[in-house]
Amino acid sequence: MQERNLALELVRVTEAASIACARSMGQGDPEYSDQLAVNAMRAAFDAMHIDGTVVIGEGERDEAPMLFIGERVGRCADGDPKMDIALDPLEGTSICAYGRPGALSVIAMAPEGCFLNAPDIYMNKIAAGPDGVGVIDITKTPTDNLRNLADAKGANIEDLTAVVLERPRHDELIREIRGTGARIRLIGDGDVDAAISTCREETGIDILFGIGGAPEGVLAAAALQCMDGEVQGQLVFNDSADRERAYEVMGEDADIEAVLSMEDLAHGDILFAATGVTAGAMLEGVRFAAGGATTESLVMRSKSGTVRTIKATHNFERKPHYTLDGYHEKMERIDA
Ligand code: FBP
Repeated sequence: MQERNLALELVRVTEAASIACARSMGQGDPEYSDQLAVNAMRAAFDAMHIDGTVVIGEGERDEAPMLFIGERVGRCADGDPKMDIALDPLEGTSICAYGRPGALSVIAMAPEGCFLNAPDIYMNKIAAGPDGVGVIDITKTPTDNLRNLADAKGANIEDLTAVVLERPRHDELIREIRGTGARIRLIGDGDVDAAISTCREETGIDILFGIGGAPEGVLAAAALQCMDGEVQGQLVFNDSADRERAYEVMGEDADIEAVLSMEDLAHGDILFAATGVTAGAMLEGVRFAAGGATTESLVMRSKSGTVRTIKATHNFERKPHYTLDGYHEKMERIDA
């Protein structure tokens, strides 16, 4: 099976997860929304012609019943390509549960060994679109980065918009950005969507700063490898348990303090797919109508640099597992 076809198979999996969890938008239960996405994604993987291993997933085997790190997914038949998978069935569980903008279902896939085995701790990140390559530098201050990016774009700092997760840990960062005159988009959740937005002119976002999840950093790097953007990261340790966790996952000899380049986070021939769950700056959310739904997805390959936006119309008569009956059955199974 050619990679090009695999990209289209991949988007079916993110579509399935998005449709499943979008049903629960606004229900106020993040875990439940996540569970719907996980179940649907896990089932959809079975049809894929790959021998996949989850390297960034829902957690360790003992904490995640499905899509745990190390789980094999796909058809796993003789001759199916061995692939590493980084995924987040629902990136922005609270976004979906409270009906806010920008929840996604995301998968990146690459040959074995191409994704950083990131521990489930925090990572400081900086990301920008193609103008930021060779320009942004996580070891420099936000002020320097904004000045350098403005120069590279031939713009004033005041013309730039930075995106930052709204968290108390970012109070100082936000104060500094405000001091430069740059505009800020504060988001409640979802820094993968925010990182990708730096490469999409229509979003009006120029740069991402701040601390979010390390696994999300790998997903962002996988996406930006396909879009010629730039991401850098550095793990953040809140306590000694975080350090132990990093050594456990990355190996005893790993330099866990290192600045991680985009190559360190994700490299090789990457396929990436993301489907909108709730409408955001970049992708539409799932819309339901009688007998069906529409979805919007991004599908990308790092090798070709092709970025496709795929709008799909799903006919539930031919996909009975997507109907409301299927949904209620699924709810009962989850409640049980
Ligand atoms: P979930 O989908 O796991 O809820 O993650 C949402 C998210 O906002 C990520 O996009 C981000 O990297 C991380 O959480 C930030 O973590 P925290 O909410 O602990 O600040």
